[in-house]
Formats: sequence, structure tokens, C-alpha cells
Amino acid sequence: MCGIVAYVGPKDAAPILLEGLQRLEYRGYDSAGVVVSNKGLRMRKVKGRVADLAAVVPARFKGGLGIGHTRWATHGAPSDINAHPHLSGDERIAVVHNGIIENADELRAKLEADGAIFLSETDTEVLSHLIARTVKEADSLEEAVRTALKRVVGTYGIAVIDSERPGEVVVARNGSPIVLGIGEKEMFAASDVAALVRYTRQVVHLEDGEIAVLRADGFNTFASDARETAKETLTVDWEAGHYDTGGYEHYLLKEISEQPDTVARTLRGRLDDRFHIAHLGGLNMDARETRSFRRVKIIGCGSAYYSGQIGAQLIEELARIPADAEPASEFRYRSPVVEADTLYVAISQSGETYDTLAAVQELKRKGGRVLGIVNTVGSAIARECDGGVYLHAGPEVSVASTKAFTSTAVAFALLALHLGRVRDLSPADGRRICDGLRRLPDQIKEILALEPQIRELAGKYAESPSMMFVGRVRGYPVAREGAQKLKEISYVHAEAYPASELKHGPLALIGPDMPTVAIVPDDELLDKNLTTLGEIRARGGRVLMVGHRTTDPKLADDCVVVPKNETELDPILLSIPLQLFAYHAAVALERDVDKPRNLAKSVTVE
Ligand code: G6P
Repeated sequence: MCGIVAYVGPKDAAPILLEGLQRLEYRGYDSAGVVVSNKGLRMRKVKGRVADLAAVVPARFKGGLGIGHTRWATHGAPSDINAHPHLSGDERIAVVHNGIIENADELRAKLEADGAIFLSETDTEVLSHLIARTVKEADSLEEAVRTALKRVVGTYGIAVIDSERPGEVVVARNGSPIVLGIGEKEMFAASDVAALVRYTRQVVHLEDGEIAVLRADGFNTFASDARETAKETLTVDWEAGHYDTGGYEHYLLKEISEQPDTVARTLRGRLDDRFHIAHLGGLNMDARETRSFRRVKIIGCGSAYYSGQIGAQLIEELARIPADAEPASEFRYRSPVVEADTLYVAISQSGETYDTLAAVQELKRKGGRVLGIVNTVGSAIARECDGGVYLHAGPEVSVASTKAFTSTAVAFALLALHLGRVRDLSPADGRRICDGLRRLPDQIKEILALEPQIRELAGKYAESPSMMFVGRVRGYPVAREGAQKLKEISYVHAEAYPASELKHGPLALIGPDMPTVAIVPDDELLDKNLTTLGEIRARGGRVLMVGHRTTDPKLADDCVVVPKNETELDPILLSIPLQLFAYHAAVALERDVDKPRNLAKSVTVE
């Protein structure tokens, strides 16, 4: 969701803010703005992309203090006026905000009754007006922000500047991430380390309820009761280069192509050849505890949830523990029964998705044991969990998840191996899985080499108004993720169904205009799947089969053949052609591949 950047230091803030916003644009990209303080506040904000903003920020925008924002609209349509920053009526205070102020209407009515004139439809504008009122009586900007926030209900990550205090930025967080970046006689803040890595690797994460004051020579952090808090500095190992397209036309293609490496990184140092087990140092669980779980519940949103479905399958097959996955957003709202002998696993690439974070917090409140499978080190979800597995896949920039999806599935294979080997998974099966996991990176390279064929198929099928994706058991989450990829980046309507359910309803949709992508691995369900293909073809439906062999042209119009691994691990490989398929369909339809309409990378609002 929206991106925030703030700077205070000896350099001009504007170019640093614009550069930072560009790095954050994947989080939200319908409008953008910056404000710089230099004998008064100077602001530019526009509907559109950061590049549109950069075009209207004049070179004479001097000043070493500023804040910037890239927006994903919640209150009010994308427009110049609704773009952040928002100023107070006297133009003394400027605010940028991520999150949602739930009592904005009530506060707005009170402020209007008190004479405030609102320019935008946003919830954020109440903050600039509120702080403008508290700042007059406060001894510091930090105190003014703290006092104002006491009246606010909702979630926020904010950055605030006061034209009468040109040496400091105040930032605060409650539910939306804020990271401080420590430079040489300069300080940064952002909603995501992506905006900071060009300038510093030393970062400090704010906790919910904390406020920080940033000056060029350092920072102080305070709890909501104004007590000063002590913070730990983390060194991030993501490099600025990770945020470049690296010669690829899109981040998405770069991230798809990185998967031999990213999968290898998720596996690195975690497979043990002697006992055929997985070493997962971050679980913080001893063997007794590991054996004590009778159930595994996995939660996540979007692609994270679908990778969780693959994970549940792996855990049931390898560890023989009942496991299932559920969208975190649903889970948190249905008052789930939290059991002591259930292991909960939360999945999140960003580690910031609000629904997943809130579900973890609810679980913790009720005494649940929660592991995180997370990509972003030190993120809110990672910090909230009792232990977990980091993906080490490097930053994922494109909105549609690809390398984090496969790395999560690999992390689940490791977790399933770990849980299985302290229960009844045999050493021989442990070895089989370890060997299979090791083969993945080279097999992914083989799949990536199929790109020309998949590009051609994508061009052929992308003209269809709608597509069906089907798979059975292990193939079903693969079908769901394949449909998700296609719809989110190409806007072609795609539905995923268990192949077995097709005849119970959706078969009515099948016809020449509705081709089917069928996931058909060489497993014990092969014959059943081939029967389904026959049923589709008999109704005039075209079939693109993704599996381990070609088949009779009577059953499938086209086949993409991927290398076979161990049956349990096959879903990881079968997902990759579908990523390439969606990518090339989106390119053929001239979509904005990395920034699909209406979406954002990290959804930090409900
Ligand atoms: C958004 C993204 C999806 C992603 C989901 C969960 O909806 O567009 O690609 O799968 O959030 O994100 P997370 O960071 O928690 O994995």
C-alpha cells in the first residue's frame, strides 16, 4: 500500500524523496507528491506516477528537509488534490500517511465546526488539521503529534514536518510500517527498506505506538506515553541492485528468471545429508514440542495463501499431520478456535500484510504457537511470530508474486521434512525429498528454457475473454495460483476449479470461447485427469495441458512438458510455466505488467 519517504540532512531532499518514491511505487501508484521545507513549505503533488511528479518538481526546490508519498487510493479517487502530502490550513504542517483513519468523518466534522477548511476527500487531511491545532500549545512537534494521535482511531504510518521546525521530521506508526534509515549526518524514514538501501543499510524498525524524531545528527524514539525507547539497529543485506530490472524488460520477468537462484537460497545450509533432515534454526522449537502438534493451520493472503495450500499438502503427505490453509483475512474475522496442539503458520512475502499481521496478533492473544514463513527480515509479521523460516529470496518488486511463491513452497517442503523426520517419515523418504529439493534449481532452469514455446501459447490463448484452470489435489493450488497470476496481470478473467468439481457446475461454461489450462502431473491421478480432458474436449473446449508428458491430441490442443521431480515436490515446478504464461499474456495484451491496475504489492490496510 502507499509508500512514504522522509529525509533530513545536508543534501537537497527533493531528489532523494523522488528516488525513494520510485523504489516504493510498486506499493501504490495512482498519485504522488513531495513537500520540502525551506522558509515555508513547498509542495508538488499529481495524479499519476512518480515520473509525472518528477516532471513537475522544479530544480529550485531546495531544502534539506522533506517528506514524500506515493498513493493507493482508499478515501477519494486518485486526483491531484487527494494526493499526499496534506497541509494544514495555515500551511505550517505537512503530513503523509499510510493506513486508514477510522474516525475521520467524526474528526472532520469537529474540525470543520472549529473553522478548518478541507480541500481533499481523504482521511489523512484530518491529521494535518489536528496537528496544526496541537502544535501551538506543544513544546515539540513530537508532543503535538502524540497529542493529536490520541484522538485518532485506525491504522497509520505517518511522517510530519512543521515549517517552524526546519530541522526535524516526526514519524509514527500504528499498524503501517515505518523504518528509519541511519546515514552519515543525515536521517531517512520510509515505509519500506526499498526506499533506503541506496543510502544506508543501517535501519531501525518502529513498533506500533512508537513515535520517532529524526534530525540530521540522529534520532530518538518514544512510546505512546512519551517514555523514550531503546532501539536495536539492524543491517539489511538487500542491495540497491536488487531493486533494478537488471536488463530485463520487467521486474516480473526478472523475478521469474531468478528462481533457480532464489530456490537455491531458500535451501542453502538447510539440508542434512547424514540424517536426511532439514535444519531450520529459526523455528525456536525443541524436538518434544515439534512432536506435540496434532494439526497445522496455515494462513496468508493472495498468492501466499495458495502457496500455503501447497504447504498443507506437503505437511499432510510428508509429516502425516492434518493440515489446511485459509485466507488470513477470513480467519481473523470468524473467531477461530485456537488450540494448543495446533501449529499455526503465517505466510507473507512482505511481512507487512495487515490481514495476516492482525490474524497473527489474534492467534498470539489466544495463546497460539505461530511460525512465520516470511521474506522480509525484521518485518512486522516476522517479529510478531514465535519463530519461522526466512525465504532469503531477495526483494520482490513486481506486484504479482512469483519467486516468493516458489520459495514459500520450498520452505514448506523443508518444514514438512522437519516435522516428518521427527515422526514417522523414513530415512529413505527423507533422502528422496532432500535429493528432490536439490534438483529443483536445475529443473527450474530447464523450465525457463521453455519460454519461447510458452510465449507463443500465451499469445494464442490471451485473446480468450475467459480461461478455466483445473487441477486435482496437488495440482489444484497450482491451478489457483495460475489463474490468479493471469487475472491480476493480464485482466483476462480466469477461474480455478478442482478438476473433479468441473462436472458439478462449471462444465456449463466450457465451449470454444473458454479454453482450459489443465495441470496434469504424472501421479496416481493421471488417468482421472485425462478423463477430465476428454470431457472438456467433448464440449468443444480447447485444452492447454501442463504436465510431465505430451498426450493424445484428442485430449489436449497444446502441451507444456516440465521435468518430473518427486511427486510431492512437483507442484513447485508446475507453477513456473503458468507464471511465464501469465507474463506473456499480459505483455501480448500490452498491460502494465509490474503495476497492474487497482492492485498494490503490500496491502497494509484491511
Ligand atoms: C497483495 C499482492 C499479492 C500478494 C498478497 C500477500 O495482494 O498483490 O501478490 O500475494 O498481497 O502479500 P504478502 O506480502 O503478505 O505475501
